[in-house]
Amino acid sequence: MPEQSDRLRDPAQRSMLLTALYIAQEQYGYLSPEAIERTAERLKLTPKDVYSTASFYTMFRMQPVGRYVLQVCEGLSCYLAGGAERLVDYISSKLNIRPGETTADGLFTLQTVQCLASCGTSPAMRVNDELYEDLTYDKVDRLLDQLAGR
Ligand code: FES
Repeated sequence: MPEQSDRLRDPAQRSMLLTALYIAQEQYGYLSPEAIERTAERLKLTPKDVYSTASFYTMFRMQPVGRYVLQVCEGLSCYLAGGAERLVDYISSKLNIRPGETTADGLFTLQTVQCLASCGTSPAMRVNDELYEDLTYDKVDRLLDQLAGR
């Protein structure tokens, strides 16, 4: 992690910052420059401190995203389970977007992550705050249809 100010060396302050960032993300949908500024003001930190912390964690979104953020695991267990790359390619092809992109209707954003702590039930994917495990193409189809209201 980049160099931090003195205030961020305090574990309680860091913990408070992570909580504040989580709440800001819930309010704004992502951590916009305005959300970073307001969080910094409230915690008496610099925007640079807040930004460097936020951008370090994959759970924080620095860009606008769709209503459902699909985070497909590309970690080793998921890869060995034969799911990771093929699952990303499958969803990418199905939704006609690449990782990092959002569908034109603003419904889905596709992302890849390195481990969802669900290695024993791989392949895994998180949709917003919900974890989906032992995925197959059929399960993905049903899930995406359900989320899209089909
Ligand atoms: S490697 Fe995919 S959940 Fe751990």
